[in-house]
Amino acid sequence: MNDNPNLEKRIKRHLWGQKFPLEVLTDSAFLPETLEELKSLGYKNWEEGDWGIRGIGSFHDLYRLNIQLSTPGRIVLEVARFKAGAREQLFRRARALPWELWFGRPEGLIFDIRTHFHGALIHHEGQGKQALDEAIRARLEEFWGSASDSLRVIPGPRTQRIYLDISGSNVLLFLDTSGDHLGKRGYRLAPGPAPLAENRAAAIIRKLARIQPDPQWILDGMTGSGTFAFESSLFFQGLSVGGGRDFAFSQWPSYRESTKNYWSRQRIEPNVRVGQNEKVKVIANDRDDRSLGAAKMNLDQFRSRFCTGGREPRFVKGDFFSLSSKADEFIGPGWVFLNPPYDYRISGSLDQFANKLTRWIETSGLEGTLVLLLPQNRIVEKFSSIPRVFDDLVFNHGGRGVNLLGLSLK
Ligand SMILES: C[S@@+](CC[C@H](N)C(=O)[O-])C[C@H]1O[C@@H](n2cnc3c(N)ncnc32)[C@H](O)[C@@H]1O
Repeated sequence: MNDNPNLEKRIKRHLWGQKFPLEVLTDSAFLPETLEELKSLGYKNWEEGDWGIRGIGSFHDLYRLNIQLSTPGRIVLEVARFKAGAREQLFRRARALPWELWFGRPEGLIFDIRTHFHGALIHHEGQGKQALDEAIRARLEEFWGSASDSLRVIPGPRTQRIYLDISGSNVLLFLDTSGDHLGKRGYRLAPGPAPLAENRAAAIIRKLARIQPDPQWILDGMTGSGTFAFESSLFFQGLSVGGGRDFAFSQWPSYRESTKNYWSRQRIEPNVRVGQNEKVKVIANDRDDRSLGAAKMNLDQFRSRFCTGGREPRFVKGDFFSLSSKADEFIGPGWVFLNPPYDYRISGSLDQFANKLTRWIETSGLEGTLVLLLPQNRIVEKFSSIPRVFDDLVFNHGGRGVNLLGLSLK
């Protein structure tokens, strides 16, 4: 809520009362998982757009998608589309937009303007950025300058990300609605070694869920900071992954906390084919005390941010290669996630690692699927004799290509 009744009325009418083009930004490798996730929430006709998966949605949808989608990185909103072939034109057109509805007061506002120019008539990206920044500030200062309480200072910086996309003279402006990357759920305070982005782990879980929808147990075999274990717990309990954090829209004058709380508390509808088996056990294993210490710190955060009702991953110390079907936990088919250390951190050579894992797959007696993340192309072929549950794929993890293999156990 804000203290200007006229502005409040306009926000209600022009923002909450309207629909906007929204784009869900996700890794190209996991596009099918995000589309499937959207569909499971009832967003059926969303398709690939300029930047991501595109659809039309209201502010309610905007809140819901940020809070409930587990696989994307960000959700952006198309705020305007117009023509500008020169800097001055960009300034004039951008200044005419009602930025006061989006951002409220100018005090403490910092714009993080990201540019994407392709064959733009305004050649200089820096000039485009500056023109947009000045236009928004000019509009806000003009609007608030005439308001009676214009001297009120809002403490602390408020960063808002804007995307300026120009091709030829076509200008496209997107507002980032997410703020921090959506992968950040808020539970991972201690990242451990080479942590996997939470949304990528969620996408891999959803991929596997479509293929083997009814696991009896989950094992995150080299858990590090616990990402696969935590994401599995959220998934199986149908919890809203964004329920424990804030978003860029939380800083907007249009913000409605009650709507955010509503979607944060909602469980995902049971019309999804998988994801409602609350009883599935999640076991997270690591041999290293430091990694386990980090994971347990994250568990405390996880508890404080999500309503887990005591159903949480169980962290255990041990060598992955000594785990077998002799343990009571691993009865029936399950899922194993294995994100081993990279390069030099694997003790022994990569070939030795591949041989050891192949032997384990043949002898452990565990049933189900093992999802393996391998940053080295070279050893993918070492697993060629093991049947796959999905085609090998490569995704981007911290700027490097990681191979994702779905290996069939027994
Ligand atoms: C790349 S990290 C895992 C990152 C994890 N996916 C995350 O998001 O934080 C690899 C982990 O494997 C553990 N590890 C390596 N070899 C192991 C083994 N034989 N048994 C159990 N854990 C092992 C390391 O201690 C380290 O914590």
